[in-house]
Parts: sequence; C-alpha cells; structure tokens
Amino acid sequence: MEKNNNNIYPVFDKMLGRADKEALLGQHGLMVWFTGLSGSGKSTVAIALERELQRRGILCRLLDGDNIRTGINNNLGFSEEDRIENIRRIAEVSKLFVDTGIVTLAAFISPMRQMRQMAADIIGRDDFIEVYVSTPVEECERRDVKGLYARARKGEIKNFTGISAPFEAPENPALAIDTSRLSLQQSVEAVLQLILPKINKKRN
Ligand code: ADX
Repeated sequence: MEKNNNNIYPVFDKMLGRADKEALLGQHGLMVWFTGLSGSGKSTVAIALERELQRRGILCRLLDGDNIRTGINNNLGFSEEDRIENIRRIAEVSKLFVDTGIVTLAAFISPMRQMRQMAADIIGRDDFIEVYVSTPVEECERRDVKGLYARARKGEIKNFTGISAPFEAPENPALAIDTSRLSLQQSVEAVLQLILPKINKKRN
C-alpha cells in the first residue's frame, strides 16, 4: 500500500493539467451544485440546463441519484453518516470532471451546511456555485412525484428529509430558485446568466 502511494506522486508532474484540458475544450470547468428537498426540482432544472449548455457547445456532466446512488454509492443509505459519505464521494468524482474542464452539475439533497461546505472545500471554492432550489416543502409534498412523502408520513420511510430529517437552507447561495414560482425556462435562464461568464473562454 505504502509503496503504491509513494509511486503515485511523480505521475502528477507528467500528467496534462487542467489548463491543457480547458484549452482543448475552449471552456472553463465549473461545479454547479444544486441543493434542495426531494421533489423540489433539482434534477429537472439540471437536466434542462445540461441540454441548454450542450446546445451552446459546452461539455457538461450531470450527476444525480440515478447514476450515483445506483452505482458508486449503492452501498449507502440515508443516515447522516451515509449522506456525508455520499456527498464526499460525489464531490471527489466531480473534482475530476471539473479538473478536466467539464461543467459539472450535481443534483443531490445535500441537506446539511457542513456537507455542502465539505463539497466546496474538496472541489475548490472558486469553482463551486451553490444553487438552492428553494421550493417549499408543502409544494414538494403536494407534488410527491415518487410517492415518498406519503410513505414518510405513514412512517414507512425513516429519516425522510423535510419530514423526519432536517434540511438546512443555504445561508448565502449564489442563486435561489423556487420552482413553484418560476417556470422551468425561467429557472434555467437564471442559472445560465450566472454561470456563462464563468464558463466562456473562447466563446462570445
Ligand atoms: S442526500 O441527502 O444524500 O444528498 P440524495 O440526493 O443522494 O440524498 O438522494 C435523495 C433521493 O433519495 C430522494 O429524492 C428520494 O428519491 C430518495 N430517498 C430515499 N429515502 C430518503 C430519505 N430518507 N430522505 C431523503 N430522500 C430519500
């Protein structure tokens, strides 16, 4: 183990760096971190944003529960400890994408400030944009797209965020979007306005 670690470091000097990747792509890497309750619209906005960025020729990667909790994190549940580990791994994976010059979108509840701070620290604060999808819990529960709020109310799901587990709203998000007030198009537009200047290098 120790031998392996000792042998890893010289490789970093030889590997191409982020600037080389960004020059190749003609864009800057960036992390767009969506946080909010289940059913708040995080994935919906991130999916539409990904399409809009792709349309503009910007390379993105979207991470959400579908590709993370069924894969790399399929051994994790919803205790606070597991959620912290969920976010830590997502942040480490995201860092690899951002360091490749890719605009990386993450849509996870990430309910505690401490978890989001950890993610920002791993990825680097200058590259980290926090977008709070602030749709009220009443609206998320009314939508109940996956039927999970009803099950949480019946006690069938323990530690359900917003019902029986806490959600700490961000104090200073770069942007807050309430999808009960904004259309999908308006939400995407608001994020775009914020991030395009940070992504564009050779464009515009
Ligand atoms: S996080 O808290 O660790 O960031 P994550 O975003 O990965 O959560 O997963 C949340 C999704 O898992 C929810 O949208 C919901 O579909 C499902 N889920 C299952 N159990 C729970 C629970 N106890 N609390 C919140 N979401 C849950």
